[in-house]
Amino acid sequence: MTAIDGRKLIERTVAFVREQLANAEAGHDWWHIRRVWNYTRRILQQEPADTLVCELAALLHDIADSKFHDGDETIGPRIAGEFLQRIGTPSDVVTPVTEIIRNMSYKTSLGTVTFRSRELEVVQDADRLDAMGAIGIARAFHYGGFRNRELYNPDIPPNPNQDKAAYKSSTAPTINHFYEKLLLLKDKMNTATGRRLAAERHAFMEQFLQQFYREWEGRQ
Ligand code: ADP
Ligand code: NI
Repeated sequence: MTAIDGRKLIERTVAFVREQLANAEAGHDWWHIRRVWNYTRRILQQEPADTLVCELAALLHDIADSKFHDGDETIGPRIAGEFLQRIGTPSDVVTPVTEIIRNMSYKTSLGTVTFRSRELEVVQDADRLDAMGAIGIARAFHYGGFRNRELYNPDIPPNPNQDKAAYKSSTAPTINHFYEKLLLLKDKMNTATGRRLAAERHAFMEQFLQQFYREWEGRQ
């Protein structure tokens, strides 16, 4: 596979993803993909892994999220694999990309993990970074609004030890999502670069929560 072939595959994939996600919810739209793709390339500057596999997986990882397809977790990897084959991607690239898409989501990591690779670790870190910091906060409240959740309810305590089923079926207020996922991410990063980038975003979320509670109680 020459570098030029790789660039072409990426160009065609970008066009496909932009079109597929034209009406996506703002937390999982083309801009989320573009950020994850950028973080992926940034991590790859420090962490050796197969660039083409990582970039294609970053671009295709949310092509059909099960959350928006009645919980069907097979549809994303299937659509991604069919697309990559259609544009002539070699099977030794298609297979690792679809394996990454099948296994990289947070909820999958709460269940039994059957596949790991360096490339998955890089793309998973990139996706997790976008769930943290200022963007992570914006995405969480956007998603909560999309699902008509309360911002916060002091009578509904968070459950940070949820299994996959409980995590998927939760209808808790958005603040709970910080304790059930967003604040747990910094200790789940796979790469040293990911851990470094996560630290600042984590600190920002903690600061945000302190201020949120101060305002909530009228102490500010
Ligand atoms: P994955 O797609 O990796 O399994 P999730 O679907 O849990 O991960 O989350 C993706 C992003 O969607 C989160 O980082 C967050 O921004 C938003 N999100 C998901 N579930 C919730 C929730 N219950 N409350 C607020 N935001 C959520
Ligand atoms: Ni994502």
